[in-house]
Amino acid sequence: MQNDIKEHFMKEKLLVLGVESSCDESAMCLMEVTNNLNNKNFLSNERKILFEYVATHKNHNYGGVIPESAARQHFYYLPKMLERLKTEMSENNMNLYDIDMVCATYGPGLVGGLMLGMCTGKSIAVALDKPFYPIHHIESHILSPMIENPSLAFPYVILVVSGGHTILVHVEDFKKYHILADTLDDAMGELFDKVAKHLGLPFPGGPEIEKLALNGDPLKYKFSLPMIKKDNNSSKNSSHIGDFSFSGLKTAMIRTIDKLRAENINNENNVDDKNSGELSNQDKSDIAAGLQDVVVRIIEQKFKKVAEFLPDVKDWCIAGGVASNKVIRAACQHFATKYNKTLNIPRIGLCTDNAAMIAWNGYLHHAYGIKPNLSAGVKNYEPCDELTLHDV
Ligand code: KG4
Ligand code: ZN
Repeated sequence: MQNDIKEHFMKEKLLVLGVESSCDESAMCLMEVTNNLNNKNFLSNERKILFEYVATHKNHNYGGVIPESAARQHFYYLPKMLERLKTEMSENNMNLYDIDMVCATYGPGLVGGLMLGMCTGKSIAVALDKPFYPIHHIESHILSPMIENPSLAFPYVILVVSGGHTILVHVEDFKKYHILADTLDDAMGELFDKVAKHLGLPFPGGPEIEKLALNGDPLKYKFSLPMIKKDNNSSKNSSHIGDFSFSGLKTAMIRTIDKLRAENINNENNVDDKNSGELSNQDKSDIAAGLQDVVVRIIEQKFKKVAEFLPDVKDWCIAGGVASNKVIRAACQHFATKYNKTLNIPRIGLCTDNAAMIAWNGYLHHAYGIKPNLSAGVKNYEPCDELTLHDV
């Protein structure tokens, strides 16, 4: 039997354990949250990350995430993290029994990893006789800008740009999410990863593109903005904003790379690197800079529409792995200032996959009176539909 949740409402501070294992990061985080729900502004209550662990898997040689390998690596890392948490808690005069609630990602993601994280979280909850909360990964990215910014309150608009999702969301309140723009095909992170792969760079491609772009000329290859047919809109409110599409852009970039390769092969003067068709570092850097430039122009287009569609929403946020890109962060800051908005971006460690966002989302479930659920299963498909279940 799980502890009565009411008992927890009485506690002044809650220790929330989060577990994340949806893709190729294994992560665990213990967060302390001041649990004063009588405070009308309880969202601004103090929260502190006490311990956080993230292990990024070794995928470099595969060119992507291999589900079986990811599952094995979660199986290796998660128990190690629990051991370390136990040790570090005891060094700080705490023990695992002090944990008040346990949360783990149920989806979306790779099913093997999700099952391992859920089983880890559920086992801890049962062993400690504490409530267990299944948590939505993308919802956690959506709520992540609040973690270290207690002054951020609902409503806000957030652009979530990760390896599997690109969504622009109007967050009216907890569980009131309106998807303003969804992606029709590839996600923004996939664009980075696939172009990087075609350039022969290791996975994940985003950080590699960012490094290369430092020496590139963003105007050398000025890629065109995607054209999106109006009747293609996939989400209810997207007619106002327009959805995202990155697959045409990806094809255009791959063609540019192939054309440069063919030119190199045919170039009789290419004595040093005859017939290899390999791109020079400068060409690679220019393409990388061109990629970042077109992505920034796409974001600018969307934020301009958001400013017109939701003029009263003053807070804008970005989150997800791609939001750790410094050029994109700086550009978003520039657009926010231009439209007189406040931009909130989590620090880089809270943009890429992490367990602090799972713990924080779990705490909000508790704070909003949502019941724990030890029997929840994993879900790896159609996950974003669930975000709008509470749509009004
Ligand atoms: O949110 P995330 O860590 O995992 C998912 O939920 O998918 O996002 C991973 C994505 C990958 O596509 C990766 O290439 C991209 O984020 N990424 C970046 C950067 N760091 C990670 N993209 C551009 N620039 C970066 N610095
Ligand atoms: Zn993610």
